[in-house]
Amino acid sequence: MNEIFRPDLLDGRVAVVTGGGTGLGLETATLLARLGAHVVIGGRRLEVAREAAASILAAGGSASAYQLDVRDFSEVESVVAQVVDQHGGLDILVNNAAGNFRCKTEDLSPNGWRTIVDIDLNGTFNCSRAAFAALSASPHVGRIISIITSYAWSGWPGCAPAAAAKAGIQSLMRTLAVEWGDRNILCNSIAPGAIGDTEGAKRIHEDAGRTDHELSRVPVGRFGSRHDIATAVAYLASPAGRYVNGTDLVVDGGRQFSFGKA
Ligand code: COA
Repeated sequence: MNEIFRPDLLDGRVAVVTGGGTGLGLETATLLARLGAHVVIGGRRLEVAREAAASILAAGGSASAYQLDVRDFSEVESVVAQVVDQHGGLDILVNNAAGNFRCKTEDLSPNGWRTIVDIDLNGTFNCSRAAFAALSASPHVGRIISIITSYAWSGWPGCAPAAAAKAGIQSLMRTLAVEWGDRNILCNSIAPGAIGDTEGAKRIHEDAGRTDHELSRVPVGRFGSRHDIATAVAYLASPAGRYVNGTDLVVDGGRQFSFGKA
């Protein structure tokens, strides 16, 4: 589905989407490919990434798949080098890979904490750092777009490591926006609210029996769609986003302002 953007909007770009094999990542990768980008799907499970790339190819897009655990800096560096070698450069990095689970903090093990911070925050650093030189050389102005959540600033009871990690990513994007703004790279975050039909919504709302509660607090009266997030990524990746740097684009139907709603 792309009823919004010009079909050649991202022609000639190469985009890496981490965690691009499923959910928001796959929807984003699919849209970027529809808009003309070659999309590199990175995923911990290579067969899932391959299936995603095959679905994009079958729809007429251009895509490839790589085994990528964002926690492993040398693996990230190797994937970036291969992408540059095979596709001539890198223009867009979407830091989408994330882990999360509900657990009261008093029951959380240090390794549980470390695992989420390692995937979300350290993974975002690893990918951004490894992609710096290639993004800096982009003729289209390099973009780093990191997926966070508005829980980064509200706090997230039951999901402390993810909330802290996402707050760290938000801070990292603001720092890099300044450090790398004159190095030809724009760095921004997107903060999705509750997006229906994702693993995150299932784990955080459905499994906890709080779907109706959450829905009642979304001012526009519906959960977001994966497409709502993919189009936000496309906007930031496009020439329309060329003066947007260091911001958090909140795509949550107004949910961040309704925490005090009765
Ligand atoms: N509750 C409490 N602790 C948990 C947990 C849960 N539901 N799931 C994992 N942990 C803990 C483990 O017990 C372990 O700690 P320990 O060694 O002290 O026992 C630690 O986290 C690592 O667990 P492990 O299963 O080895 O980690 P992993 O590398 O396989 O990845 C996730 C764990 C959470 C990242 C994995 O479940 C995942 O990939 N989830 C899907 C991604 C997702 O949810 N995306 C949406 C984000 S909103």
